[in-house]
Amino acid sequence: MQRILIDTDPGVDDAFAIFLAMRSPELQIEAITTVCGNVPVAQATQNLLTILGVLDLDEFPTIAEGEAEPLVKQLVTAAHVHGEDGLGNTSQHRSTDGSLLYPPANTEIATLSGVDLILEMASRYPDELIIVTLGPLTNIAKAIRKDAAKMRRLRKIVVMGGVFEEYGNVTTTAEFNIFVDPHAAQEVFQFGVPIHIAPLDATHQVVLTGERLHAEFDQQEDNISNFLKDATQACMEFYRRHVGFWGFHIHDALPMGMLTHPEYFESVDAYVQVETAGTLTNGMTVADLRRERRPPNPNAQVCIKVAAEAFLDHFFKRLH
Ligand code: RIB
Ligand code: CA
Repeated sequence: MQRILIDTDPGVDDAFAIFLAMRSPELQIEAITTVCGNVPVAQATQNLLTILGVLDLDEFPTIAEGEAEPLVKQLVTAAHVHGEDGLGNTSQHRSTDGSLLYPPANTEIATLSGVDLILEMASRYPDELIIVTLGPLTNIAKAIRKDAAKMRRLRKIVVMGGVFEEYGNVTTTAEFNIFVDPHAAQEVFQFGVPIHIAPLDATHQVVLTGERLHAEFDQQEDNISNFLKDATQACMEFYRRHVGFWGFHIHDALPMGMLTHPEYFESVDAYVQVETAGTLTNGMTVADLRRERRPPNPNAQVCIKVAAEAFLDHFFKRLH
């Protein structure tokens, strides 16, 4: 069993990741922190409660709200992809009697900050806690700045972010999570704790088509199936118009699979840096992934290949 803390900016694919994590007995979710990214952090926290409300939970991980702004840059959000509320506008969906179709979970948000919850968990589970980041790395960088000694005891950090041998998804050269806070990403990657990265190079290999989503969920009337069909409409429409197919990439689900089923993923050692000063290249993750160019001082493992169909089958098996 692996103890994890999830740092998230829900986002539709964050919801897929959180559902998969909750349905993975290999993972013990000790805490969830929210961060600004797809949506402002207050909305991210509301979205997390909506996501947890979809699951019929008796007990909840500790939840705390994290940073509202990146370390240096102005916040850039992605409502155009994930819908105004960040969850395909499901927070507005109502039943015929006017009640919320997906009411928030009945659990408290901790009074301590996301950064302090990260530090509390890192010190409670030294050499054991794994942090899984599904959004910008602002909370992690601030926790390192606040108490590096506690953060050095992390077992590892699994990051959805970056792009190396493909184009970016927010600029030509940058992936969203890193682009939003490149300064935080650079500080985290240089910190020295083991880092495992799921970049777009890997997440783009896992294509969830609308046809597959509906084939899996149309026969079901449970809350998760209904929620995921509703929540994905906006982003699948965005993909149809701007990416060229009806469906989308479940980026954030991959880190959960990398923890529970590493056999589906192939990674290489790399020395990863982040461009923080560039104009055209701001937020670009820079590393030489060529096998013959093994770095003498790798700071990360970068996932380059995924058994995509096996992982998708695994995903749906866990969610049914
Ligand atoms: O680039 C994809 C990443 O940015 C995902 O985590 C998505 O949720 C957004 O945060
Ligand atoms: Ca995310």
